[in-house]
This record gives sequence, structure tokens and C-alpha cells, in this order.
Amino acid sequence: MSFPLDVLTPESWVEVAESDPIALLNDHAHCELKAASTAHSLIAKNPGYTELAQALAEVVIEEMEHFRIVLDRLEARGGALSEQSENAYAAALHKRSAATRKSLVLDRLVIAHLIEARSLERFHLLAHHASDPDLRTLFAELLPSEAAHQGMYAKFARKLFERESADARIAALRAIESEVMLSLAPGPTVHSGFPSGAFESAR
Ligand SMILES: [Fe+2]
Ligand SMILES: [Fe+2]
Repeated sequence: MSFPLDVLTPESWVEVAESDPIALLNDHAHCELKAASTAHSLIAKNPGYTELAQALAEVVIEEMEHFRIVLDRLEARGGALSEQSENAYAAALHKRSAATRKSLVLDRLVIAHLIEARSLERFHLLAHHASDPDLRTLFAELLPSEAAHQGMYAKFARKLFERESADARIAALRAIESEVMLSLAPGPTVHSGFPSGAFESAR
């Protein structure tokens, strides 16, 4: 499987991510909830794009289904959903993109594409390398759907905007995404940074 990202996460990240499965599942449940809410808000703010609205409605349904699955796993392990906290990764992407932004809609589609792509990359690592078989099964189940989501956001970015400007913005935000990722600390969350010293092995 290939991922539309400039820097790839080293396998050693998995050990850090699954060091606290309850924290990981809690963060993951919030990611699914935020993914649904991003799609929901893109529909509400762009009422003129019917085909996009139809595709996003499907995403809302799927992300809420993922949320329910992850919440079940969290509770089965004795965890409970915490209050929502800021996702430093997503917040940094939005903040960093604003300085060079030409279209808010295009940037929101491209950032959603990148967040889905990074989540897909992380789920793929966990599906293949987590030591916990339940975690491997959970993340393997979610892979096809997240692969489709990242592709759908890129497709609409290129469809609703001029192909060249969409491609240029995807490339620019991919570069920003890698800088943001490399600035974050590692930890048991879906979008945590790389373990220290792992950058060279990731290139
Ligand atoms: Fe999801
Ligand atoms: Fe998704």
C-alpha cells in the first residue's frame, strides 16, 4: 500500500502508540468523531456542490459507524470517552496553511485528504505491527474505508478546482504536513510524532 505523504512513519512508532491502548482508543474515537464533523461542516458550508454533499454524507455515516466500533472497544477495555481535547496535529495544519491560502474550501478538502492519508498510514502500521491481536484486527477492518476517504477528498479537490492549482496546493500542504508531523512529540495518539531519532529511518 502506498501513501500520499512526504515522510513515512517508522515502524518503531507502533510500540509508543500501543503503550497505552486506552489512551490510543480514546484519541481514535475522538478522531472518528472529528472526521464526521469535518464532513458534516463541509456539506453545510458548501451547499452548491450536490455531488460533494452526497459523498460527504456517506463519509459522515461511515465515520460515525467507526466511532461506535472504537467506542465499543474502548469500553470493553474498561475505558471511557474523555472530553474532547484539541488535536495538535490538525490544529497546526489549519494554522500553518492559512498564511499561503487562496481558497478556504480547497484547503479544507486538501487538509481532510492529508489527515485521512496520515490516519490510513497509521492504521496500516498498527494493523500489521501491533503486538495486540485485537488492535491489529480493529485497524485492519478500518483500512478500506479510510483509503477511500483520503482518495475522495483529493478527487473533489481536483474536480471542483482547476487541476493544476489543486495539485500545487496538495504538494504545498503535503510539505507543511511533514514539517508539522516532525515537530510533534511521540505518544499514544493516532497523530503523534515520530519516536526520537527515527526521522532518518523514515526517509
Ligand atoms: Fe474513520
Ligand atoms: Fe475517514
